[in-house]
Amino acid sequence: MWEKKPILLLVLATLAIMVGTVITMVLPFKWINGEGDRIASVKPYNALQLAGRDVYIREGCNNCHSQVVRPLVADVLRYGDYSKSGEFVYDQPHLWGSRRMGPDLARVGGKYPDAWHVQHMKQPKVMIPQSNMPAYTALVGNAIDPAYTEKKMKVLGFPYNQAEIQALAGKTELDALIAYLQKLGSDIPWRQQAKAVVVGDLVNPFVNDAAAIAEGAKLFDSNCDSCHDLKMESDDTDDVGPPLTNMKDFDENDLFTLIHDGTGAGMPSFASIGVTGIWKIVNFLKNHKEGDDEGHKKGDDEGHEK
Ligand code: HEC
Ligand code: HEC
Repeated sequence: MWEKKPILLLVLATLAIMVGTVITMVLPFKWINGEGDRIASVKPYNALQLAGRDVYIREGCNNCHSQVVRPLVADVLRYGDYSKSGEFVYDQPHLWGSRRMGPDLARVGGKYPDAWHVQHMKQPKVMIPQSNMPAYTALVGNAIDPAYTEKKMKVLGFPYNQAEIQALAGKTELDALIAYLQKLGSDIPWRQQAKAVVVGDLVNPFVNDAAAIAEGAKLFDSNCDSCHDLKMESDDTDDVGPPLTNMKDFDENDLFTLIHDGTGAGMPSFASIGVTGIWKIVNFLKNHKEGDDEGHKKGDDEGHEK
């Protein structure tokens, strides 16, 4: 019978839609932008990072990469605690994305050294042989425009100073993009804490254990090979880390600690491999002989030498 009273129907329908709008849109917006959801350590982008963010958007990186850790077991196991709204307060527009051809990048900051990203952006296959990510070589040749970036900082209301803007002169789009990638997720406090894992007394559980050494070889191939060669090579393409040629002289506890904690200067922490896995790699490295270049592929033969 309401359909016979168009004015009343109009008023009631409008009211119903308004209530729905307030509950599903206005209220969450208030929560997200309210103080309760802020994360104090999450800071706005600096000028270089903001320029990099725009390169990221222009190149359509978000068509292949999401920037949100979903509250699903698989996501949390792979990337850590699921994303909170406070992580994205300075993302206008956000780049959560809906498609993952490549890994999620919400926490990629600090995962690799800059040098890794340079190589990876210029030629992804050099770092990850099975990668189908396109190469972005051209970014090296494009300069950042400081004046334009300053305008963007103003529009977004991000704090900046003139020194920061002047420092943009001579920077390329690749520099900016990498600065942006290194910022992603690195402000979150629980991520900082996760890095400091305490290890008990160091005792090598696998001395001369052939099976463990063979597994160490596999772990090395999948985790370390992209940055480290096992011998000196003249045609080095992957020279992010030094070649690991003299590991016999390396104290095994020092080696364990270095792999577990990283160096903070390019060598990432591999605590995520786990104590057992790291000891396997240590034993593989300690047993690897120089000149034995294919040795880690036929790990079965090793350990019998004794
Ligand atoms: C066609 C899809 C595609 C596009 C477009 C793309 N990527 Fe990727 N990306 C991938 C795939 C697949 C991987 C995984 C293999 C690899 O590391 O190369 C990846 C890996 C990465 C990684 C390493 C992530 C990690 O945790 O190991 C970074 C960083 C990255 N991409 C950044 C970018 C940036 C920045 C852009 C835009 C300039 C971009 N990607 C564009 C597909 C893509
Ligand atoms: C993303 C690149 C990268 C990956 C992956 C990587 N490293 Fe490194 N590593 C470096 C860099 C860069 C250095 C040298 C800089 C430094 O000392 O901080 C280094 C240094 C080292 C050193 C010290 C070498 C020396 O002669 O002092 C060892 C040992 C080492 N890495 C072992 C490993 C092992 C084992 C793995 C795999 C679990 C691994 N690295 C994975 C980049 C990497």
